[in-house]
Amino acid sequence: GVTRYYDFVISRQFLSPDGYKKNSIVVNGQFPGPAIEANWGDWIVVRVHNNITGPAEGTGIHWHGITQKDSPWYDGVPGISQCPIAPGSSFTYRFQADVYGTSWWHSHFSAQYTAGVFGPLIIYGPKHEPYDIDVGPILLGDYYHREYFDVLEDAAAATEDFNVYVPWSDNNLINGKNNYNCSMAPENATCVSNAGLAQFRFTPGKTHRLRLMNIGAAALLHFSIDGHRMKVIAHDFEPVVPYESDFITLGAAQRTDVLVTADANPKETYWIRSTITLNCSVTHNPNAFAVLSYEGNNDIQVPQSQINPAAAAADNKTFLCRNDELSKTVPFFPKPVKEADTTLTIEVDLLTNGTGHHVWIMNNRTQRANYHRPLLFEATQENFGFPDEWNVYDFGTNKTVRIVLNTIYQSAHPMHLHGHNFQVLAEGPGKWDGKTIINPHNPTRRDTHMQRRYGHLVIQFEADNPGAWSYHCHIAWHASMGLNIAILEGGDELRRKYAYGPHARIPHIMQETCVDWE
Ligand code: C2O
Repeated sequence: GVTRYYDFVISRQFLSPDGYKKNSIVVNGQFPGPAIEANWGDWIVVRVHNNITGPAEGTGIHWHGITQKDSPWYDGVPGISQCPIAPGSSFTYRFQADVYGTSWWHSHFSAQYTAGVFGPLIIYGPKHEPYDIDVGPILLGDYYHREYFDVLEDAAAATEDFNVYVPWSDNNLINGKNNYNCSMAPENATCVSNAGLAQFRFTPGKTHRLRLMNIGAAALLHFSIDGHRMKVIAHDFEPVVPYESDFITLGAAQRTDVLVTADANPKETYWIRSTITLNCSVTHNPNAFAVLSYEGNNDIQVPQSQINPAAAAADNKTFLCRNDELSKTVPFFPKPVKEADTTLTIEVDLLTNGTGHHVWIMNNRTQRANYHRPLLFEATQENFGFPDEWNVYDFGTNKTVRIVLNTIYQSAHPMHLHGHNFQVLAEGPGKWDGKTIINPHNPTRRDTHMQRRYGHLVIQFEADNPGAWSYHCHIAWHASMGLNIAILEGGDELRRKYAYGPHARIPHIMQETCVDWE
């Protein structure tokens, strides 16, 4: 493959994507950020400059869903795979596009990505289902007018008020756009109502590929197109046996690729909808709209179309904060479940800590960000050791790892594992019974999956990728509040290959101690 070079400059800018002017943090001045495109097998090199000032912040860019085989130090997680990129300095990532399909890149420093540090990551590979036109990425997500640190503070406030600790989303965007009614904005805001909607054009009779991704902070979304059905062809970086659907469910960080045939009346216009499901993760549910018209129609009117009944019904089932039935989401390339070598069971709960903040606990421990010495560096030392608050689970030489998550709290969590596409063995209400496996001959695989409220999620993966990998809730506030463990995999191999001995090749970019810029 060839090498694709990109240059990212991250800085603060005042932007008004939905008409409301706010202090944002963006890459190369763009919102959403620039798209990275490559072919399967290519190498991707991204030089990232941290120009975030006033106030300064660290950063680190994660390439969501890339397995980083043999390059764990380019996974972009400050504290785990690297030091934060200090203000005024830069860091160059270099990794292989070893999977194909639809994803995104985003900052992994605190909840910084919600300020605007994200963009699409598209890797072109084999087509398993024919289509005519690639419409490209469609970025969906909740949107907040306050700065992320203030929202984060509310999320962690130990109050009884649900509307505070489950923060209010001000808007919901499609490709960075949606209207906003400025009468809802505070007095001193600079705001212009009706900033405009994203527009899409279909070619009559042709089949279009839409690359849907939820790049938002927290909200679970239902996506639908009035008057059109969709055929699902991939979830995250895994192609699936195609199935029809009236609406698509996307938890934070999830992607779904769909095919849509333009077979409706070409003279009409249609709403494209992205709807926030109340009570899954946010307390306010602004709906996002975009306009779909057909080529040849030069008289684009405000759509009069109606939401399809299945999508409308789904939006009312606020208790359904979960993905499609596992029996429906079957990987295109079959892989049976193996016997697990080790099983880790974790109970998830919310707790008020000593300083009066809400923290998430996993088996009674919360993860605290460590910006002093990356776990991956520590793990390559001869006498390594980790403080409790790093929440490290060292799987040593175990090969097949099963993680059972039981949550005893009322929130749903989109759980994401770095470095792997995991198998989803089971998902449902209450605690796992220790035996039910859905589709054992070929269970769902992806890199992010919803755990429903008061429910369980059982994942399994081959620990064949030496490194330090985060397994966390992708709700930005939850991850920052400690719903995060670090998985250490193949430690012996890491130490042998990279740390010392005649063939040691840990890159010089791995810092032992991080720069303190404050
Ligand atoms: Cu999309 Cu830990 O990240």
